[in-house]
Amino acid sequence: MKLIIAANWKMHKTAAETVIFCEQLKRRESEFGGVEVLLCPPFTALAPAASALEGSAIRLGAQNISWEEQGAYTGEIAAPMLKEFGVSHVILGHSERRHIFGEEDVSIRKKLERALQAGLVPILCVGETEAQRKGGETGAVLERQLRAALEGLEGEKVKEMIIAYEPVWAIGSGQAASPGDAADAASLVRRVAEKHLGGGAGGALRVQYGGSVNAGNIGSFVSLPPVNGALVGGASLEVDTFAALVVAAGEAAG
Ligand code: PGA
Repeated sequence: MKLIIAANWKMHKTAAETVIFCEQLKRRESEFGGVEVLLCPPFTALAPAASALEGSAIRLGAQNISWEEQGAYTGEIAAPMLKEFGVSHVILGHSERRHIFGEEDVSIRKKLERALQAGLVPILCVGETEAQRKGGETGAVLERQLRAALEGLEGEKVKEMIIAYEPVWAIGSGQAASPGDAADAASLVRRVAEKHLGGGAGGALRVQYGGSVNAGNIGSFVSLPPVNGALVGGASLEVDTFAALVVAAGEAAG
């Protein structure tokens, strides 16, 4: 299965900084082999990024969308506004949205439906907190988040979806999950996805690992079959660091 490495820039980089990054990354593209690369800058940098990436296979993702298509929703951004700039993917349910901004399973589900309907590929993030892990609740938490997001979703598009397993305690902490734990979680994600979506979707969709991924550890994750890439925060902000990570992923996957 083709690997996908996604850069989640969070609230980093102006439009001008983004253009410089994109131009430099484009020059490294020939080193990326068969790895799919996705950049998810802030909303304000999407249009300049799209122009800077013209002629390249590097794709663009947003970090959030509204579940509505348009209307009186101050401060929200709708899927068609993103598609206008060639955005193809959208991160949904990231732990920072869940824990800092109070997003709940119900709204994440609505956003997921909207993304699929609009033809955006969702990257649905799931993961347990440190307390949940210590309490032995990892499996139950993942099952709950996945069921709320996936149960009853229909259509061929669900097979193109990406699910990112991101243990909350591993995000930005420098302490990544062990590759074995990430692979176990990825297998569970597939089983639960198949239960709720059926039709082979659990095997077809791609599962990323996220949480303190870097060029040094990416290989140990993507060399395990249930893991098909990574969602990368901190290590995606410098061109050289990020390019090295993508190259390492490609080499590990052979
Ligand atoms: P990190 O972030 O790579 O900085 O741990 C990952 C994420 O939040 O998606």
